[in-house]
Amino acid sequence: MTVPIAPGVFDIIPQDDQELWRSSYLWNYVEEVIRKTARDYGYLEIRTPMFERTELFKRGVGETSDIVSKEMYTFKDKGDRSISLRPEGTAPVIRAFVEHQLQQQSSVHKLFYIAPMFRYERTQAGRYRQHHQFGVEAIGNKSPEQDVEVIDLLLTLYQRLGLKNLQLCLNSLGDAQSRMAFRTALQDYLRPHLAQLSADSQNRFENNPLRILDSKDPADRKLLSHAPSILDFLNSESKDHFELVQKRLDQLKIPYTVSPQLVRGLDYYNHTVFEIIAGELGAQNSIGGGGRYDGLMKQLGGQDLPTIGFGTGIERIIQTILKQNVATPNPQAPYIFLIALGGNGKQYAFDLLHELRRKGISATMDFGEKKLNKSMQQAHNCGAKFVAVIGEDELNKGKISLKEMSTGEVTEVPLDSLERILNIEMHKKDFLRLWKEMSTPFANQAEADFFIRGLSHTVSQTLHAAESLSSAAEQIRKTFVESD
Ligand code: HAM
Repeated sequence: MTVPIAPGVFDIIPQDDQELWRSSYLWNYVEEVIRKTARDYGYLEIRTPMFERTELFKRGVGETSDIVSKEMYTFKDKGDRSISLRPEGTAPVIRAFVEHQLQQQSSVHKLFYIAPMFRYERTQAGRYRQHHQFGVEAIGNKSPEQDVEVIDLLLTLYQRLGLKNLQLCLNSLGDAQSRMAFRTALQDYLRPHLAQLSADSQNRFENNPLRILDSKDPADRKLLSHAPSILDFLNSESKDHFELVQKRLDQLKIPYTVSPQLVRGLDYYNHTVFEIIAGELGAQNSIGGGGRYDGLMKQLGGQDLPTIGFGTGIERIIQTILKQNVATPNPQAPYIFLIALGGNGKQYAFDLLHELRRKGISATMDFGEKKLNKSMQQAHNCGAKFVAVIGEDELNKGKISLKEMSTGEVTEVPLDSLERILNIEMHKKDFLRLWKEMSTPFANQAEADFFIRGLSHTVSQTLHAAESLSSAAEQIRKTFVESD
């Protein structure tokens, strides 16, 4: 009897399928772009454990938030401690920052993580009990430019991945004083209609009235359409901060919509909050979100440093890539597929496979004994660029037939030259590297032929560039001659 996977979670499977959001190749691709983008913005990786003391999330995220009150995976460990699987990444990062006294190393810290999060939610398309977030936390800077840098990083990531039609929603929750004034005004507005509010919103009325603004209940929404706006309650400091954030976004030509009812589901936020919406995602349309959470570090026993960050769901990023039919790079296929025939062939191919791989040429072979046409089919299925058969005949002659799968072209090459020929082929787009091959004499005609072939490929590619280079050089020469 098989044991099926638990509900709300999924496997990322080893399939090079550009259509399947759970294929590991798509995850690898997205994670590579994430790491490059984070590095380009000066963010360094931090990894925290998958579980923490429950108290961290109670104090950090807030006991009235749904995430903590309803969705945490909490259990007692054998030492009778209450432990929770990490439902979000911000509180653990700040805990680690305080614990390692990272503030002593520099005044500003820019950290990122790619990590699974656990929330016992009602599952539906795009909402899982284990999801994966790319998150950043920028610590130590309270300027509006820092807010915009974080938003810009997130949008640059989406842009690099080719995502379109995303909407940036922006709001300010102000500082504690502004929020307190708004809280009272919101309660005053809602109090006469308390009985009409949904049960959830009634529960939130005393403890966390701002979260009522997040309600999806149609009756609540109707009432909320005339509710006071938090933006009218920002004190001058909060207002200045928010205005500068908008000014800097305008400067970078980043479009946004001010959404006065955007409050976000975690209790630690203040000042700037934002969410990015992808229409294609349906009901769970938030692809990423974050905001400022000044005060959290102090609440967790550290210094009172200003902090801002975001989290974006990798599942939702990949699903949006697929829904928007965005092109993704082809999966990496082996450069050469070796087919061994007979005992000696197998022994030789096994050695060759090892040598090629050591030299950075991706090579594969099937260790089983298959019929030649079955092996050819396998080479074709895995997308190998070349295929070569190595049997008794080839070993006697010291030559193999190298077949290029896409063209069907077959070239006979000496076995000893295979590695060099594959290297020339692999780097034929790199003119300088190819050119350097000249410094090592060619052992035979086949090596020279592949070199010439590679060279004519690069020359035809660079001809156009060379023309524009020579006209630019002529222009520079004229400028200097004329100014003499
Ligand atoms: P969050 O809005 O709860 O924020 O989650 C961030 C993103 O994670 C969401 O926009 C969504 O893409 C994804 N996500 C959340 N829950 C699920 C789920 N059940 N299934 C699939 N995807 C999900 C935070 O967690 C904050 N810690 C972000 C932050 C960092 N704020 C400041 N710094």
